Amino acid sequence: MKFKKKMVVAHRGASGYAHENTLLAFQKAIDMKADCIETDIRRTKDGIIVLHHDRHINGKDLLALTFEELKAEASKNGFQVATLEEGLAYVKGKILIDIEFKEDGYVKEAIDIIHKYLRNDEFFIRSFLDEVLIQVKEIDPRIITALLLGKSNPKHPFRTRLSELFPGCRLRRTKADYVSPYYRLLKFCFVWRMNLRKCSVSVWTVNDENLIKKVIFRNKVDSVVTNYPDRALKYFQKDE
Ligand code: G3P
Ligand code: CA
Repeated sequence: MKFKKKMVVAHRGASGYAHENTLLAFQKAIDMKADCIETDIRRTKDGIIVLHHDRHINGKDLLALTFEELKAEASKNGFQVATLEEGLAYVKGKILIDIEFKEDGYVKEAIDIIHKYLRNDEFFIRSFLDEVLIQVKEIDPRIITALLLGKSNPKHPFRTRLSELFPGCRLRRTKADYVSPYYRLLKFCFVWRMNLRKCSVSVWTVNDENLIKKVIFRNKVDSVVTNYPDRALKYFQKDE
């Protein structure tokens, strides 16, 4: 699919200005008039789906922490961790949200929660995990999904990088609607090739202003994921 307009996506909220994946970072993105917020989900030992990037906090595995224990660890680090439900209720009616599944294992449960709050035109799902994207489309083919490319430390580096530079097979298999590559993957006419498939390109994570200009004006991507939405918004507005 091609986006109707170019988009600036606030990475983990406007995480250059507030702690990542918090409601505070979400509010900063809303204040800056970003088009969308990207956020990460994981699940705690007692089954609460939370907004958190890393699998560990203070050396402890989230899978071994209850939500209350996670909250205590987060507060030691000076931030308030939010549940997926809190995040969805917060953004509803204010901004789009792009939810990244960091793990497999609770796709249906998470989609049911998301559908309690948002219509399909109010959110996107993204993941590095092909199996997650396949399940999302099986649950509801109208949900818009993105295949993330640029996995860190893959088990099979050569095979993975090749499938990321030339993601055609994976796009077909996952039925992903658009693609979200790490900016260094914009090689071998990547955007041009995706345009031929009518597939939008949402590049991550671009924070340097010169690089932002390059991906917008030279590579002509459809969307930029950045910790600093304000640095990109002015150029995207000019480009339209
Ligand atoms: O969704 C783009 C980007 O967030 C993927 O990497 O590690 O920042 O979640 P990461
Ligand atoms: Ca992410």
